[in-house]
Amino acid sequence: MEQIRANIETIVRERLKDDHTGHDCSHIERVRSLALHIGKIEGANLLICELAVLLHDLIDDKLVDDEEKALKEVTQVLLNEGLPENDIDHIVEIITTMSFSKGTKKGMRTLEGQVVQDADRLDALGAIGIARTFMYGGSKGEAMHLPHLPPRTEPMTKDEYRYGDSSIINHFYEKLFKLKNLMNTNAGRKLAEERHHYMEDFIERFLAEWDGRK
Ligand code: NI
Repeated sequence: MEQIRANIETIVRERLKDDHTGHDCSHIERVRSLALHIGKIEGANLLICELAVLLHDLIDDKLVDDEEKALKEVTQVLLNEGLPENDIDHIVEIITTMSFSKGTKKGMRTLEGQVVQDADRLDALGAIGIARTFMYGGSKGEAMHLPHLPPRTEPMTKDEYRYGDSSIINHFYEKLFKLKNLMNTNAGRKLAEERHHYMEDFIERFLAEWDGRK
């Protein structure tokens, strides 16, 4: 099992090494620590959690052009490592259903999926979440704040959500402030609440400084 983990780590590191959108290897490392922490408390299968974390961004359509092909490659990697088929199916199920744009309606079927999704969402919150949001928005050329542009409300199609007009500050209202109520596990929810409040304070301060009130 040590070997599987090491081999997959090498592949993931190679694929994500040029990412500057906030989905780099350090994101994977933080999500791994969070998933192991939450998974231990919740009694999940930690190897499944860990492998799903390592692989989860390799098929994200934010990062790859051909999702289907990327998924085939990921499955092949796990097959080559000799992982049992039901574990492979489980990991594939987790990484294909967990993203915000796809996963909000369906929900995660297994405890391991819930743990990994919570861990990934936590990395979008708090101080790290703020930093990643600005980094991602910057990489897409988005404006920091457009006071005349109100945050968009649901329902939005996936393309509207991703390509429509928005600002980095609006992203907090359109996605990040919603995540606290979407957490699956108690341990995840507790951490999310703390990080949520930190972001609320940040936005309040940001808007006050923007208007010259502070
Ligand atoms: Ni991620």
